[in-house]
Amino acid sequence: MLQPQKIISRNYELPESWTLATFEKAGGYQAIRKALQMEPAKIIDEMKAANIRGRGGAGFPMGVKWSFMRPHPTKPAYLVVNADEGEPGTHKDRTIMERDPHSLIEGCMIGAYAIGAHVAYIYVRDELHLAKKRLWDAIHDARAKGYLGNRPFGAKDYPLEVHVHTGGGAYICGEETSLLNSLEGKRGEPRFKPPFPAQVGAFGCPTTVNNVESIAAAGPVLLMGGAEFSKLSRLHALNDGGSRLYGVNGHVEKPGTWEFNCGPTMNELIEHAGGVSKGRKIKCVIPGGSSTPVLLPGELFHAPDDKSPLHEWHGKSVFDVPMGVDTMRTAGSMLGTCCLTVIAEGTCMVRVAQNLARFYKHESCGQCTPCREGTAWILRIFDKIENGQGELRELDQVADIASGIVGNTICAFGEGAAGPALTFVKKFRAEFVAHIEAKGCPSKGSIL
Ligand SMILES: Cc1cc2nc3c(=O)[nH]c(=O)nc-3n(C[C@H](O)[C@H](O)[C@H](O)COP(=O)(O)O)c2cc1C
Repeated sequence: MLQPQKIISRNYELPESWTLATFEKAGGYQAIRKALQMEPAKIIDEMKAANIRGRGGAGFPMGVKWSFMRPHPTKPAYLVVNADEGEPGTHKDRTIMERDPHSLIEGCMIGAYAIGAHVAYIYVRDELHLAKKRLWDAIHDARAKGYLGNRPFGAKDYPLEVHVHTGGGAYICGEETSLLNSLEGKRGEPRFKPPFPAQVGAFGCPTTVNNVESIAAAGPVLLMGGAEFSKLSRLHALNDGGSRLYGVNGHVEKPGTWEFNCGPTMNELIEHAGGVSKGRKIKCVIPGGSSTPVLLPGELFHAPDDKSPLHEWHGKSVFDVPMGVDTMRTAGSMLGTCCLTVIAEGTCMVRVAQNLARFYKHESCGQCTPCREGTAWILRIFDKIENGQGELRELDQVADIASGIVGNTICAFGEGAAGPALTFVKKFRAEFVAHIEAKGCPSKGSIL
């Protein structure tokens, strides 16, 4: 049985956990006090030792990212927190903002101080009304107490400010360079990289962009020590330190978000969420938000009586894949946001593919032709198949279109749209063929 961890989520169950009084009573704002007594480089060393792989999806180590920041002779530096959380099936960052906003603000202060910034922006998706309110209130209260402002905590002469900026709810604005454009009041379209944000970021200045959960971990890491935090991970070889938030949704009895030490297996997570709903069998799992390719049960775990390993990993036989950046890649997908969607037997996979294709077509910013045209074309094909007008040759066309998108766009949105479409057709081809032959959905498009 998995035991939930209580580091990032340490205050979630406290009464009025979002208030300054509760946060301070539980030891809040001690980490930033400690940070302000430290050399910024030493804080970055602690984050490196913690080995926090970025929690926004790409898995880049946070301490290493912070170390890319160099003082500019004339320009200020910025910390930008990515609180867009638009990835379908992902619902972890909002728990931090709604239930413990001060931990994010404290993380912003630590991060800003460590990278030489005086200002942090939290870019929040507009629909997250409660998260916005809680953040605004928390910033107001921290300012009123003199924690934020010219002399944080009345001692250190290092001004620190945190601002909330609301986005309009476009998925592409979660991509870090689109987010920066949007923050500047421009159209939310990705920028070419290089230059990377550490060189040319917000308002043309050196900038670090990090996910909410990555930044909220900074306080606990500093109090615990980076090495101690890292050791919490269940498997050293996972190369993913500490603990993190995991979400389970879809066809499970008790969907939710919990914190665990890094590396629970998919089986354990599903079991923790009460198992597959109504006692059904698992048909497939989308491991980390809809941009991560779907996996079949046989790619994740074995039937109890099957003794042959799935594959070798770091010299060991793997029977039940632990969730990690590298392990999920070995299994043929990605860890993504660590929020998995369980799909039970009886679900029409053409309908699932069509539903997601509609999302990607709608959310493509349109800047790159392969993505703009390709996502619309894939949706047209899935619509035709679901409506009984599909042709067999169109299944191979999906592969052609997808390979035309991958590697030919400015940002990773294209891959996030193309990879899953391709794997749906590849892994559930028989279902697509059955739709084409039956001229429509044989199961009347049932999603349970
Ligand atoms: C289409 C797209 C959407 C994204 N949406 C988010 C998001 O909502 N939140 C997030 O933190 N990262 C998102 N990312 C990843 C960011 O570009 C970036 O890698 C991340 O914010 C960096 O933070 P981290 O290093 O702490 O993970 C998205 C990326 C892409 C390509």
